[in-house]
Amino acid sequence: MTEITIRRPDDWHVHLRDDAMLEAVLPFTARQFGRAIVMPNLAAPVTTPAMAADYRRRILQALPDEKAAENFIPLMTCYLTDDTAVNDIQNGYADGVFAAAKLYPANATTNSAHGVTDITRLEPVFAKMQEMGMPLLLHGEVTDPAVDIFDREAVYIDQVLTPLIEEFPTLKIVMEHVTTKDAVKFVRAHKGQMAATITAHHLMISRNDIFAGGIRPHRYCLPIAKREVHRLALREAATSGDSCFFLGTDTAPHPIDDKEAACGCAGIFTAANALELYTQVFDEENALDRLEGFASLHGPAFYGMDANEGSVTLVKENWRVPGTIAVPDGSSVHPFRAGETLNWKLKN
Ligand code: DOR
Ligand code: ZN
Repeated sequence: MTEITIRRPDDWHVHLRDDAMLEAVLPFTARQFGRAIVMPNLAAPVTTPAMAADYRRRILQALPDEKAAENFIPLMTCYLTDDTAVNDIQNGYADGVFAAAKLYPANATTNSAHGVTDITRLEPVFAKMQEMGMPLLLHGEVTDPAVDIFDREAVYIDQVLTPLIEEFPTLKIVMEHVTTKDAVKFVRAHKGQMAATITAHHLMISRNDIFAGGIRPHRYCLPIAKREVHRLALREAATSGDSCFFLGTDTAPHPIDDKEAACGCAGIFTAANALELYTQVFDEENALDRLEGFASLHGPAFYGMDANEGSVTLVKENWRVPGTIAVPDGSSVHPFRAGETLNWKLKN
């Protein structure tokens, strides 16, 4: 196959940031995807419907042109804290401002300092979400520094997720950016109630790649890439046709100076070539016939939405990923696989 056309896909996990960075990265996502679940971890987290409506306005204003404005819808999320009010969740969802709520365990990752320290305080919120059918999006890692960083997802499943789904058996849960065979198995076992997003980078790199010939800050993200056996489990899950797995890039742009630092921050920027990366993986796995399900159908079905109208076409053609991407404030971002050749190209 040298050309593939699929229904216009969605990205169910995106960091768009704000201001100059938003302006720099948004056109990439809007060009490829019909909708994107926008993460709420701004420097001042998006915790209320009013903040989400404001942020949505800023995103719509930052769209590059008419075509993007016609074809792209940002879906907003609520950043859960220990103090999230049931009313805000209820009104935000009922008014169509919030598509979902995101749970960051406090200090699990970038801009999560205001995250949840005590999950039991959110029980009334979860009860309301369960009643309304509002999805809960989880950053599924424990934050106990005594737990090895490579085990934090698996320990979260045992310590937090298992009791959570027992208490709320019909709460819709998306385990975001799964990185382990344990998560794949758990999500499959709770299919219907649960789903998972899978990033392009976790399909492409294992933990060895973070240290290939030296330390590679642009391959550092959270959850961190795991052993090869886990990467292979993710490739199997993504390409299996199983509807509980769908596309979510977790594209997370940071200025290069913040990544190439003594304490470099977590996040991999994949928006510039997201669909091409996934298509390459599906091609390598001889599963191009399953790309559309993963990219365009399973996500909306889980969220209770229609699939997008329209389509995108990719052609098998080598192209070189640029070395850097400029941000209007003078900084720049390093795209995943910068300077390397990819063999599928989005046509439009
Ligand atoms: O690597 C990551 N970067 N993981 C996250 O969970 C957050 C993200 C970011 O916002 O930079
Ligand atoms: Zn994320």
